[in-house]
This record gives sequence, C-alpha cells and structure tokens, in this order.
Amino acid sequence: MIESPGRATKKLLRVLDGEAIGPPPVWLMRQAGRYLPEYRALRTKAASFLEFCYNPKLAVEATLQPIERFGFDAAILFSDILVVPDAFGQKVSFESGHGPRLTPITDRDDFAKLRETIDLDRLSPVFETITRVKQALPSHVALIGFCGAPWTVASYMIAGHGTPDQMPARLFAYRHRALFQDLIDLLVTGSIDYLEQQVVAGVEAVQIFDSWGGVLPADEFERWCLQPVKAIIAGLRSRCPGVKVIAFPRGAGSHLVDFAGRTGADALGLDTAVVPVWAAECVEVGTVLQGNLDPLALLAGGQCLGEAVKQIKTAFVGRPHIFNLGHGILPETPIAHVEALLAQLREEA
Ligand code: CP3
Repeated sequence: MIESPGRATKKLLRVLDGEAIGPPPVWLMRQAGRYLPEYRALRTKAASFLEFCYNPKLAVEATLQPIERFGFDAAILFSDILVVPDAFGQKVSFESGHGPRLTPITDRDDFAKLRETIDLDRLSPVFETITRVKQALPSHVALIGFCGAPWTVASYMIAGHGTPDQMPARLFAYRHRALFQDLIDLLVTGSIDYLEQQVVAGVEAVQIFDSWGGVLPADEFERWCLQPVKAIIAGLRSRCPGVKVIAFPRGAGSHLVDFAGRTGADALGLDTAVVPVWAAECVEVGTVLQGNLDPLALLAGGQCLGEAVKQIKTAFVGRPHIFNLGHGILPETPIAHVEALLAQLREEA
C-alpha cells in the first residue's frame, strides 16, 4: 500500500481500495482538452502538441484546469500515450486536424533504429509535471498517471498514424510474428520503467489505455493485449507494491469478465458499449468498475444525458464504482452539460 496522509480523504483511492461510495467519485477521460476555452488559450502558447506535453508549466496548468473548473475527484496527468514511441527515438508529431504522425516501422531495420531502453531523461518534464501537480492539488483529489497499452501504442508505431480498424498492425502481427513480439516486449519494458517513474514522482494510480484491443480475435487479444498488460502490471507491482492500476481495454466485450483478475488490475474501465447491469453482475467480484457514459450523450445533454447517468448510477449501486465516460470527452461538448452531469451525480446520493 502506498500510504499518504490524504489517502482516507480521497474518494477515488477509497473506491480503488474496494469501498462502494455513493455518490461515486468522478473524473472524465480526456478531461483536459479542447472543449475547455482555457485549454484552447493555453494550447496557443506552445508551437507543437509534443512541446506542450514536455513543458511542465503548461502541462501542470492543463492538468489542473478541469479540477479548478469542475472539482473532479481525480486529475489525470496531461500528456499523451505517444510520448513513449518518442522516448524510444521514433519520430512523432501531431498535425492539427490530422492527429498523430509517426515514421512507420515496416521491418527489422526500422525496429533496430529504436533505442533499446526508453529515454527517461527525455520524459523528465513529465515527471516534473507530476511533482508540481501533486503539490498544487487539493488534498481530496487523487492524481492518475497513465500509459498506452503496448498493442495500442504499437498500432500507431506500425501504421504511422491513426486508422479506423488498426489493419496495418493486425496484418503486421500475422506476417512478422517474431518482430511484432519484440516490439511488444520492448514496449512492456519501457512502459514499466515509465510508470515506475510516474509513481516515484507522485501519481497514486495509473490507467493503462488499450483503445484498440477490441478489433482483435480471441487468440490475438490474449497475446497482444492481455499478456502484455499483465506483464506491465506485474513488473510495476514488483517495483511499486500497492500502486493502483486501472485497465481500460476498450471494446474487449466478453474478455471483460475476468480481465482484471487475469491481468492483476484493480479496476476495469468499461467502454461505451458495455451494458452497465451486465458488467455489475458478470464482471468478477473484487474488480472495481469505472465508466461508462456515452461521450455523445454528454455532448447531446438534456433528457438523454439524465437518463443515461441514472441508469449507470443505479446499475452500480453497492459495487465499488468510479463514474467516468466510456471513451474520451469530445471537443464539441458544452461545458454546461458537464456541469449538469456533476450536479445530477452529486444531488442523488
Ligand atoms: O485529460 C486527459 O485525459 C489527459 C491527457 C490525454 C491526452 N491523450 C491528451 C491529448 C490522454 C490520457 C490521452 C490518451 C491517448 N492519446 C489515447 C488513449 C485514449 C483514447 O482516447 O483512446 C490515444 C489513442 C492517444 C493518441 C492521440 N493523441 C490521438 C489519436 C490524438 C489526436 C486526436 C485528437 O483528439 O486530437 C492525440 C492528441 C491529443 N492528446 C490531444 C489531447 C488533448 C489533442 C491535441 C491538441 O490539443 O492539440
């Protein structure tokens, strides 16, 4: 157990310890971002998105903005999952309107150009951000660190950009099995080193984002999603015993039932498509559940939002639950809808 004086006052950590609390603690995936006017203003101060992520002054402010505006129960480090390929020496950039661009890995020669270990010096601004955020946060707000799961990160490293179905990486994994395994193993090791340093710098829980696991057939899911996540959690726990881990295997469907038990995660992030009452009944007892409001219901607001929030809250009564979205908040989301969500969550105990 990582003890800190504020642990008992942090609702999120109490739930991660297995306590069911009503109303549940709440934070939103991508809670720092373009739907906030103050984020858009801050974003203009850095020439590129990566420079923004590697500038502690700006990243601290971006992390704190949603806490100051909404009083969420947790802050999530402002960074991106693609700083990991960057810290392995792959060229990474973000083009506005086009998303991430990486020099794709197409063969063993490209792979050999990556560093053998993750460059933690390059990531030192991220750790500085964490330390500074930790000092600035109100005592009841938990700080969450994160990384992308190896499969999701590898899918960008192979394709060189986002794709709707991860076809380049799926095909690569079939055609070049040993090479793909080497890439996944490299990312497992690098992610353990990276998360360990996040914990040392002050995060109290980490979330592993596997945004693209849902496209894989069962055997491939087992090999490229479940086993690497399990290896990261085991490696991290051996160095940071007691650190809380939230796994978010988006689209994992029936794999969710025992995903936390098999990987060693404490909590499971449920994506938008998961039926809340199904998860409450079928995901093994002992797993904390997080989720899973449709980001589009939040964008639409009104009655749809009210009903969806109620349904989720009701489904998880009596089970340790962290209220969140089923995927990241959309840039078009009106701030008033986030306020309405929070008011509804907080008024009905
Ligand atoms: O508030 C938070 O949640 C913390 C910050 C955070 C970002 N990205 C900031 C960001 C986190 C946790 C992420 C995770 C992330 N990044 C994932 C996994 C979660 C998911 O949404 O599926 C993935 C797949 C990425 C990769 C990524 N980063 C893409 C595909 C894009 C472009 C699409 C987009 O939304 O613009 C990014 C850029 C990015 N990461 C932005 C932000 C706020 C927008 C860039 C900008 O503001 O200029």
